[in-house]
Amino acid sequence: MTGTSRTSPVWHPFSQHQLESAFKKIVKTDGAYLIDEEGRSVLDAISSWWVITHGHRHPVIMEAIRNALERFDQIIFAEYTHEPAEALARGLIRLAPAGMAHVFYSDSGSTSVEVAIKMALGFFHNSGAPRSRIVVMEHGYHGDTIGTMSAGERGVFNAPYAPLLFGVDTIPFPAPGREQETLDALERFCRGREVAALLIEPLVLGAGGMKMYSPHLLTEFRRIAERYGTLLIADEVMTGWGRTGTLLACEQADLVPDILCLSKGITGGALPLAATLCTAEIFDAHLSDDRSRMFFHSSSYTANPIACAAALANLEVWRQEPVSERIRALGVMHHERLAPFRSDPRFANVRQQGTIAALDLAVSRTGYLSEVGPRLRAFFRQRDLLIRPLGNVIYLMPPYCVTVKDLDRAYGAIGEAADFIETAAS
Ligand SMILES: Cc1ncc(COP(=O)(O)O)c(C=O)c1O
Repeated sequence: MTGTSRTSPVWHPFSQHQLESAFKKIVKTDGAYLIDEEGRSVLDAISSWWVITHGHRHPVIMEAIRNALERFDQIIFAEYTHEPAEALARGLIRLAPAGMAHVFYSDSGSTSVEVAIKMALGFFHNSGAPRSRIVVMEHGYHGDTIGTMSAGERGVFNAPYAPLLFGVDTIPFPAPGREQETLDALERFCRGREVAALLIEPLVLGAGGMKMYSPHLLTEFRRIAERYGTLLIADEVMTGWGRTGTLLACEQADLVPDILCLSKGITGGALPLAATLCTAEIFDAHLSDDRSRMFFHSSSYTANPIACAAALANLEVWRQEPVSERIRALGVMHHERLAPFRSDPRFANVRQQGTIAALDLAVSRTGYLSEVGPRLRAFFRQRDLLIRPLGNVIYLMPPYCVTVKDLDRAYGAIGEAADFIETAAS
């Protein structure tokens, strides 16, 4: 074990080092497992923050990375192009909803959303009728940069930075029975024709607590946005690549966004990469003899060739392997194993969307800082399960190679965890 969390110079994300025990070293990853320095195999039941789709170190993706390394490292993308980026862009356009025509590369989910917001504002600016408002959804999460924090739920995570965050218009989460409220709010905001874009996580709000809503809302969002010339940005950073049961969540409502953000599973989770896809109209609004109308965004590692090669291999895996069947089977497994929890009074709001299963532990203090969160995490860790509840929200989002046996162990531990929390409270 590598000392306590305070003896290493490493500063870990979303971690209170004062309270954290030592961070164990992972020495190897394999399929649905992380192998730690003590040789223990830990089930990665949350796909290492939702990035790993097929399983850790998928052989096709690993081989593509090795091959790319023989030929490439980073290449300045403002000056040159390369075949992995070109082929990947063509591949992404093929699988995205019809109408997506251009691909802008960046390197994380947050930057893909920053790019999307800038594309939307750039579109209106260059069209001569500037708009600057962004509408977002209550409980949304889009990243941790200043721009994406501005678009996300305000709370304990971003309170210190609040003075720097820009104002957005927030529609309520469309909880069952309250959908019309959400739609009315959207219409109210858009009516003034100052709203550049509606930014949403389609079907599932991830970090906001695995909150799920019906696909028909997406159709309504599209209709309202179109009526007022508001662009629709689909942030599929988490929901993309099969998580919700289809390759993209948008497909479940035949939603054609104006801008689509992809990251995480784009490389199967092997390497950092993001892509923001947009319509020809948005791209064309940046075309001009005037250089001041170009799209002013870049980062050093834009379109890293090795990451693009990994993403191309991921597309190959989707083409060659029965990924959809695996996803369907995982969905059925979740459905069956969630059934007993639906009538268990220790749990509430048992829900599922494709490969994502979530349930709330019925406790009095809810929310991200609910004290049951760290206790649950420690409980699961002792059982070699990587499950990081969002406060009292326990969820599973495993890679698609997970087995029935793996899932049974995870669900068994969730049941035991409720006993443990109950016993500790009494
Ligand atoms: C919907 C959504 N958007 C954006 C992000 C930010 O992605 P990243 O952490 O890669 O910056 C996340 C991360 O979890 C996410 O779930």
